[in-house]
Amino acid sequence: MLRTGKGESHAKVILFGEHAVVHGEPAIALPLEALPIHASATPIDGDLMLTSSLYSGPLDLAPAFLESPRAVVMASLEAFDLPPHGIALRIDGDIPPARGLGSSAAVAGALVRALADLAGRDLTQEEYLDLVAVGERVAHGTPSGLDAEATSADEPVWFEAGVARVLASKLSAILVVADSGMQGRTRAAVSSVAAYLERHPVRGAAMVAGLGALAHGGALDLAADRPIRLGEKMTSAQGILRELGVSSPEIDTLIAAAMSAGALGAKLTGGGQGGCIIALTPDVPSAQAVELALREAGAVATWRHRIGPETASEKA
Ligand code: MEV
Repeated sequence: MLRTGKGESHAKVILFGEHAVVHGEPAIALPLEALPIHASATPIDGDLMLTSSLYSGPLDLAPAFLESPRAVVMASLEAFDLPPHGIALRIDGDIPPARGLGSSAAVAGALVRALADLAGRDLTQEEYLDLVAVGERVAHGTPSGLDAEATSADEPVWFEAGVARVLASKLSAILVVADSGMQGRTRAAVSSVAAYLERHPVRGAAMVAGLGALAHGGALDLAADRPIRLGEKMTSAQGILRELGVSSPEIDTLIAAAMSAGALGAKLTGGGQGGCIIALTPDVPSAQAVELALREAGAVATWRHRIGPETASEKA
């Protein structure tokens, strides 16, 4: 164990199917490679140490909000026959935590890869997903596995019944991602959807199925490069998510601002009840106008993600 192990992953957005995916419907997610996470694992004399923007010190003494990466590290050490000491872990990246961009899965994924690299192990996708899931269970309770797949993918992902595949897309458009600045609460949001389904079983089931149908239709729009129809479906999905109780006043304000500025459609992304929104725009000038409107409406950060041949993302 002489060299540093390295691993990386990135943020994601969910285009369709958040929450519904927990109840068996399909979902579509896009990798956000402009927001990467890098992790390293270096042999040292001493304890298991962590350096990150949120905490630096012995991993054992990390604050409770880092329980998810800590659990992933401990499970990975065991899986890779590494000792639970003598390793300095480092995490670098700018994915805002708890904003629906998959930061917990991305951090977990980068750590798993760094430790596998340190141990000289080739990881199968199944081993990778199992280890990331250890942290996702701590962070979210009953994760669908979508975030773990999307934060390690480099193409749009279709996720159904626990299985991910690359989704063919010919869409040429720009997605604007805006951070409301409010922490999302995925675990609470997942519980509030479950509570809605219990209170309104018939209507709730129809709404969840409606989100699934929008994912199916959205996949066709991606394949046929139909941004206007895709945008309409995003706005419809937002209506259902709002009724399910996973929007928030801040999210609603940002969505109204994006739509008034000419977005083709807008919705929350990820767990909701805070976090980020995504707005679809046809080209760079429209994306700029929507970004400006979002910032004026209170967004604390915006990112531009080109959906198209080069799938490059730009931070504003
Ligand atoms: C969180 O990014 C997406 C949810 O559907 C939860 C999950 O899929 O595990 C809300």
